[in-house]
Amino acid sequence: MGPLSAPPCTQLIKWKGLLLTASLLNFWNLPTIAQVTIEAQPPKVSEGKDVLLLVHNLPQNLAGYIWYKGQMTYLYHYITSYAVDGQRIIYGPAYSGRETVYSNASLLIQNVTWEDAGSYTLHIIKRGDGTGGVTGHFTFTLYYGPDLPRIYPSFTYYRSGQNLYLSCFAESNPPAQYSWTINGKFQLSGQKLSIPQVTTKHRGLYACSVRNSATGEESSKSMTVEVSAPSGIGRLPLLNPI
Ligand SMILES: *[C@@H]1O[C@H](CO)[C@@H](O)[C@H](O)[C@H]1NC(C)=O
Ligand SMILES: *[C@@H]1O[C@H](CO)[C@@H](O)[C@H](O)[C@H]1NC(C)=O
Repeated sequence: MGPLSAPPCTQLIKWKGLLLTASLLNFWNLPTIAQVTIEAQPPKVSEGKDVLLLVHNLPQNLAGYIWYKGQMTYLYHYITSYAVDGQRIIYGPAYSGRETVYSNASLLIQNVTWEDAGSYTLHIIKRGDGTGGVTGHFTFTLYYGPDLPRIYPSFTYYRSGQNLYLSCFAESNPPAQYSWTINGKFQLSGQKLSIPQVTTKHRGLYACSVRNSATGEESSKSMTVEVSAPSGIGRLPLLNPI
């Protein structure tokens, strides 16, 4: 029975209140190796920012480390590796140009994007043992947005007496907070705005503002709503000549 045939012991660590998880697979079940942990700094990552995947409690006497994107140690998921002898850094097919591996195995990812979210695998190679080591899976959820909001429907002309229903949507994680203003005056919080039986008083500039509390980013979109005066003509007896 080689070490790799032992059933992996899976440890799932959840940082309270944070959108990230890390699990460590330890093929040897040695207490000293089981303590290897990966931690994201900062734990909340916004698009365009940097994240450092910190590796704690590395075992001694290592030959090197390999970082993979995803949970599989396939060659085409190979991001970068560090060979302790000669302090060599090697880049693989999954290297985007934004990752930096340090001699302590930590990985810095700069300018994080959508594609960076997901899991990462750290493969630690022990000296004198080419068969494997500790594999850590790490996942982070990206905070992004809000993007420029869109207002539906986009038509801006209403007749007096029609009902106006507008809704606003912006891509955002976590979901954006929405608010509406009419001619710069706060109207209500929420994604939808409805005004039954509009009159010419309801003409104006309608704006939807969105805010993501996690990224601190804001955006807004406005549209001009035109309401035609009641023509009245249709109701005049003139059109129904007697
Ligand atoms: C590893 O090195 C990086 C870059 O020097 C540093 O920021 C980080 O704190 C180090 N990690 C640990 C666990 O010491
Ligand atoms: C990160 O983005 C900034 C601004 O877009 C750019 O100047 C910088 O070169 C980028 N860094 C990397 C490592 O891609």
